Amino acid sequence: MFDVITGSYPGTRLRRTRLNAQLRDMVRETVLSPAHLIQPLFVAEGPLKTAVASMPGVSRLDLDELVRECESLLALGVGCVALFPVTPAERKSPGAEEALNPDSLMVRSIKAIKQAVPQMLVLADVALDPYTSHGQDGVLDEQGYVDNDATCQILRRQALLYARSGVDIVAPSDMMDGRVGHIREVLERDSQKNTLIMSYAAKYASAFYGPFRDAVGSGANLGKGGKETYQMDPANSDEALREVALDIAEGADIVMVKPGMPYLDILRRVKDEFKLPTAAYQVSGEYAMLQAAIDKGVLDEKKGILEALLCFRRAGADMILTYFAKRAAAWLA
Ligand code: PBG
Repeated sequence: MFDVITGSYPGTRLRRTRLNAQLRDMVRETVLSPAHLIQPLFVAEGPLKTAVASMPGVSRLDLDELVRECESLLALGVGCVALFPVTPAERKSPGAEEALNPDSLMVRSIKAIKQAVPQMLVLADVALDPYTSHGQDGVLDEQGYVDNDATCQILRRQALLYARSGVDIVAPSDMMDGRVGHIREVLERDSQKNTLIMSYAAKYASAFYGPFRDAVGSGANLGKGGKETYQMDPANSDEALREVALDIAEGADIVMVKPGMPYLDILRRVKDEFKLPTAAYQVSGEYAMLQAAIDKGVLDEKKGILEALLCFRRAGADMILTYFAKRAAAWLA
């Protein structure tokens, strides 16, 4: 005799619901679709418009290519892109003045997409590292420390510039204290009521950003300087909840955990605790790592990528920023 009440074997055989594809489809708890994916895109002009050496398969696009890429992403069901401009060295400065240039590549990229492909949601990073000659996300004080409050004063103007240029989502990625509140206040005051803020809320000081810094050309400037005085310590988890709580209180609509794969525990805690729309960023180093394994022939490309992305959803991500967005969407379509 066996006890069906306590669900022991053989009354309960979990393999029954795995018997065939129809059953597996029926009991599946999590789905991944192109609508969950956000495609990060690098934008560059002139001689800077090249392939990204550290991210095989990723290229920096000029404005024409950018618009065409948005059209094909939308056709595949990917409805949002995150823009990362490559700034020529001569436009970088200690004070990041280019961040406030009304004719910057970021501003022109936003306008080009919103004009040609208005349904495409455009997300713009708000941070100073693409524009500083020292590669840090903010301006420095006399000691070389990233000055929190002086940086917030620039970030709020940068966010407003992008909102006025038509961006749908501003995404502060700098980890200054109080910046979400600054940005929300300035957007409200300017009647930019429907501009979303996706805050990089729990963003860690991670080695996995290396290929990105190569892609936007901030890595060499940063040199050996790290971002540990503002990005989070990978050892911390409770602190992530404090970061997220503050960003929500300051007016964030969507919160992000970054990087992705090594931080799925943080993602789950954030989703469970706050139940807010939550994004995960599968960052450049994760892309490079998976792509290297694919190129070596030791990881099945389609299965490996789709599994990695599905697991973000299972861990609590409503949306995923991933350099694989287009490739995955084509398989999912
Ligand atoms: C800029 C920014 C970074 C990333 C997104 N926005 C790099 C950093 O903080 O140094 C990383 C994205 C990636 O690695 O894919 N603040």
